[in-house]
Amino acid sequence: MQPDHQVLTLFPLPLYIGLIEGGILPEELAYAQNLAYDPNTGGNRSSSNHYVLHEPEMARLRGIAEGHLNNFRQQILATDNELYITQSWTNRNARGSHHHAHYHLNSIASGVMYFTYGGEVPPIVFKSDRRPQIAPRQTAGNIFNSDTFSFRPQGPVMLIFPSYIDHSVVANPNDEERISLAFNTFLRGDLGVEERLNRLTL
Ligand SMILES: [Fe+2]
Repeated sequence: MQPDHQVLTLFPLPLYIGLIEGGILPEELAYAQNLAYDPNTGGNRSSSNHYVLHEPEMARLRGIAEGHLNNFRQQILATDNELYITQSWTNRNARGSHHHAHYHLNSIASGVMYFTYGGEVPPIVFKSDRRPQIAPRQTAGNIFNSDTFSFRPQGPVMLIFPSYIDHSVVANPNDEERISLAFNTFLRGDLGVEERLNRLTL
């Protein structure tokens, strides 16, 4: 029997989940742990090095990140423009520390590679910028009536998402530190169309 209706999904947000082939190597984890970090301000601590993926010790992970960025560029953005990594840094969340809600400026897509995962590792929480206007009592959550989405990495994966999406990390309940590597990207080449008066050469 043919269904009597259908529901289309308009303007969805992509959350790309890619495998870190081979996982995080012990020397890569040690490199992240031994970097200098900015002083603890009660929340997330970021590496003082803001270009860690350009360091030779991170060359393998950079290659993996660039492979997934290439998929994102082709499948999501559908552009021939190069999508390249700009700044990149590592984050540490000790027990009790969180990372406040934020988004990334001057970036097309942002990525995060998980150096720790599994168990009760605190999730990243994405929040929609579409503000609800009413609050009906919901009997179930679904993709149309929810405005947050939590992702808890259970394996060696990386995420790529549009940089304008608000995201945060809840307080770490574990003694084990949460360690991740984040990066931003931008496009290179000609954007827009001369005749539409929106051409931009980068
Ligand atoms: Fe972020």
